[in-house]
Amino acid sequence: MSGLESRTTIHRAGDIWTVVKVDGRAVLKSYKSAAMVVNDDGTILSIGNFDDLSQKHPSASLIDHGSSTLVPGFVDAHLHCPQLDVIGSGGYHLLDWLEQYVFPAEGKFAALDVAVRGAKRLSRELVRHGVTTAAVFSSVHAHAAEALFQNFERTGLRLVTGKTSMDIGAPKNVTESVEADIEAQEKLIATWHGRHDRLFYAITPRFALSCSRPMMKALQELKERHPTCYVQTHISENVHEVKDVLAEWKEFDDYLSVYEEHGLIGNKTLLAHGIYLTDSELARLSRSKTSIVHCPTSNTFLGSGLFNMERSTAMGVNVCLASDIGAGTGLSPWQTMLECYKVQALQGHLVTADELLYRGTLAGAEALGLDNRLGSLEVGKQADFVVLHTEHNELLSERLRVAKDPAERLFACVTMGDDRMVHAVYVAGRQISQGQHRH
Ligand code: GUN
Ligand code: ZN
Repeated sequence: MSGLESRTTIHRAGDIWTVVKVDGRAVLKSYKSAAMVVNDDGTILSIGNFDDLSQKHPSASLIDHGSSTLVPGFVDAHLHCPQLDVIGSGGYHLLDWLEQYVFPAEGKFAALDVAVRGAKRLSRELVRHGVTTAAVFSSVHAHAAEALFQNFERTGLRLVTGKTSMDIGAPKNVTESVEADIEAQEKLIATWHGRHDRLFYAITPRFALSCSRPMMKALQELKERHPTCYVQTHISENVHEVKDVLAEWKEFDDYLSVYEEHGLIGNKTLLAHGIYLTDSELARLSRSKTSIVHCPTSNTFLGSGLFNMERSTAMGVNVCLASDIGAGTGLSPWQTMLECYKVQALQGHLVTADELLYRGTLAGAEALGLDNRLGSLEVGKQADFVVLHTEHNELLSERLRVAKDPAERLFACVTMGDDRMVHAVYVAGRQISQGQHRH
């Protein structure tokens, strides 16, 4: 037995589904009687037919997933940890909803034990839903971002997060002065950004209505000092929000300019929503390689509007998906992909199953600039994957049995799938323990 072989694992499954890029287009690639060979550092060595690969790697240790299907770990590119208990709070559109539900909920994270428990609950929920990489808003409190980093370091998930910057437009217990904010962020960046190549810091202005001019300027300078940090924020989600931003930031012609003129857009920036962006704004996002994070269950729940994905992508903007809980209605990537399908269908554009999976996996990795390592199951990438079972759901199982091809099967999962399908979750070839909670 060679030393190399002894450190190799072969995962056997009924099927493997992944999206790959062919000539710049995302297409579904599927393998039957499948196997994926993973080395000790979590890199995928080969994917294909089990009989072929087991012959080529006779001494690899076998993990047999039976008839299950392996898919890439999902990327949830925008959600709010302190809003787990805000999910399903109806009755208001965005700005009133923030005041009525969100700021009080985020205020509770001033208590360290609440923040620690929130981080723990979030990672457990993400694993339960098959999400292996998440870009998360914390609260304004530095210890809440710290708690997320500590928890995700332990559990093994991939995390992009930051302390939410807000010094105006909200109650005192969820705002902080510019000086205290920047000092806390410097510490968090020094401790966590790039740790294990798995935990990354995001400068996180809540949105243009939460940050004063001195705060935006300070965030600009912070980004200049730490250009490899991500930036995440909200943009053009709601008509009243856009109107208020333009009234507040009179010196700028449009919403994007507020971020753009502060050096906060670019290939490490994730902008949530973007429903009401103009052609000029989209063209500038495309040029600067800034991604839009589409949050369909949030947009329909809050009645924010219908994001036109075809228009944005036709202009060359990368669009990925996110749950945006607590405005979003759940953490399930299946639910998010299905709502994305419906939102686009209502606007006359019928998204394929291939594209839905792409938006929920590889496009998220592209938004984070991590697509060379994550987002799809391909040789040379990290083995971040979800083991799916369907037998608990008779209706879905039968639907999958009669489906004519993998794309039809995938669409059935998008429509009928939920967290009960998630049997196990792996990041970089290692099983994440909360994934074993069922079955
Ligand atoms: N805009 C500013 N803050 C928020 C938030 O917490 N949720 C959503 N959906 N939009 C926002
Ligand atoms: Zn949000």
